[in-house]
Amino acid sequence: MNREEIIRITEEFVKHNLKEYDSGHDWWHIERVRRLAKFINKKESLADPFTLEIAVLLHDTADSKFAGNDIEQGYAMIIDFMERNGMSDIKDQVIEVIRNASFSKKNPSGNLNDPLLLVLQDADKLDAIGAIGVARAFNYGGFRNNTIYIPDEQPIGKSNSTVGHFYDKLLKLKDMMHTATGRSIAEERHLFLEKFLEQFYREWNYSKDSF
Ligand code: ADP
Ligand code: NI
Repeated sequence: MNREEIIRITEEFVKHNLKEYDSGHDWWHIERVRRLAKFINKKESLADPFTLEIAVLLHDTADSKFAGNDIEQGYAMIIDFMERNGMSDIKDQVIEVIRNASFSKKNPSGNLNDPLLLVLQDADKLDAIGAIGVARAFNYGGFRNNTIYIPDEQPIGKSNSTVGHFYDKLLKLKDMMHTATGRSIAEERHLFLEKFLEQFYREWNYSKDSF
């Protein structure tokens, strides 16, 4: 199998294994992160492009399929898939990277000497901010039946509202970027989050003091 064929087969595997109801981790998220990762990597020449593409494609498969279940089963399934499809040589590196890629993982940084992780983490985080980030947050909040906003909610790291999640996570992502390219994209998307919140509060408090 050549590399293009391996990528096609991996795309099919990922599409088949992503849980359909969790649209924060749907195929379009993978596509967007792939494009961002390729862009960052092209600018920065950090990671091997083929290994990066495979890691991006697989980065949410174990999570989304086995969320709340045995995630190790998810990794075992990915390892088996890679061994059967000509990726034995990169499987250890890819698994290590996707284990550490997620913000919500206990060890959010992982092995920062691996350029694959730097690019994948930046790309994944960029998809959680900006207009797409706002859309994903309210989509996830709806999925969990969370309220959109709780006035006077204190930022405690695990808010019950979606606006609270902006303070728990989204507004922190800009300062967690590893690459200069990621940082510059994050700046613009971060400004949009701030603008969104400003408008949100303006509307929420509209003419509050007039009656
Ligand atoms: P990762 O895939 O990096 O582990 P998560 O699974 O925590 O990230 O989040 C996936 C998407 O769902 C992100 O866009 C994130 O902002 C959103 N999300 C996660 N938790 C919440 C929440 N409590 N409220 C609103 N959106 C959330
Ligand atoms: Ni992701």
